[in-house]
Amino acid sequence: MAGPTNASPLYTFIPCKNRKRDLFIQYIAISNRNFYRIMKNRFSTCSDTAVTAIPADSGQSAILTNKAVHLAELLQIKLIEAQERHKYNPLLLYTEKGLQIQLKQAGNHHKTSNLHVDFLSDALNYRRQHGGGIKQAIARAVGIKPGFRPSIIDATAGLGKDSFLLCSLGCTVYMIERSPMLASLLLDGLERAIRAQALPFPVEKMMTLAEGDAAEIIKDTTTVHTIYLDPMYPHSSSSALNKLEMRMIRFLVGDDLDAAKLLDMALEYAGNRVVVKRPKGAPVLNNISPNHAIKMKNSRYDVYMI
Ligand SMILES: C[S@@+](CC[C@H](N)C(=O)[O-])C[C@H]1O[C@@H](n2cnc3c(N)ncnc32)[C@H](O)[C@@H]1O
Repeated sequence: MAGPTNASPLYTFIPCKNRKRDLFIQYIAISNRNFYRIMKNRFSTCSDTAVTAIPADSGQSAILTNKAVHLAELLQIKLIEAQERHKYNPLLLYTEKGLQIQLKQAGNHHKTSNLHVDFLSDALNYRRQHGGGIKQAIARAVGIKPGFRPSIIDATAGLGKDSFLLCSLGCTVYMIERSPMLASLLLDGLERAIRAQALPFPVEKMMTLAEGDAAEIIKDTTTVHTIYLDPMYPHSSSSALNKLEMRMIRFLVGDDLDAAKLLDMALEYAGNRVVVKRPKGAPVLNNISPNHAIKMKNSRYDVYMI
């Protein structure tokens, strides 16, 4: 199959201490084609996962099909015709809206739910404009102050919502996500946001993405002020898990049972503080007491000063 010759550059970049690592991450940054090349060898296979393209019109057909071809190669999953799509779960789907992950609902396979990264969505824009600015809990937790915006590694990027909010408040955010499928969604969302040029801040300069285990990547990344962690909490009683999106992410990535190790690494490598988001009532991570906690209705931020 032909390569994605028209792949547009995605200028994301995480500065690193280590030259070798620096080159590696810059390589991710150069273009989505290179990103795909890097991720290819690290993907696990999931036998009933497939990718397809459903173009709205023939003008989009070649572009979307090309993207589907490369994602199939990257994730080592089947590339299928659109009419076969009901047989697969999860299904990765390219439409004119970008990449989506479609999951069948348990007990009713005709009903599906989608995961999608859209940094231009009404919901995110509302949160950006009316969420409380630098007074909101997450902003105080990461160390935002009038006249000061910390640099942040979001070591558990997920769908990038927290990263996006912090970025919209003026922070430079380096996202790390280890699920290749979610990293693909994030990359697709970033590309569309960069192309649209509709946000009042330069996304391409302020939000970057690396795919991989943050516990490894942060060792070689330039020291940032704050490392932010929002690992999946293992108990289904967590209110966050009641949200459909979180249940879907959990289905795809499972519980983050190694979050304690990630906290250890974050405490070692953060410049000023580590923030851990926890559900209300959950024990502190790894039995390490934070310096202080910022409580919200259903969750809290445990803040560890370095
Ligand atoms: C609860 S979700 C994060 C949601 C995110 N805060 C948002 O706003 O969309 C947790 C995510 O962290 C990722 N994750 C957990 N441990 C990780 C690690 N060590 N390195 C990279 N990603 C990790 C999981 O794959 C999952 O996508």
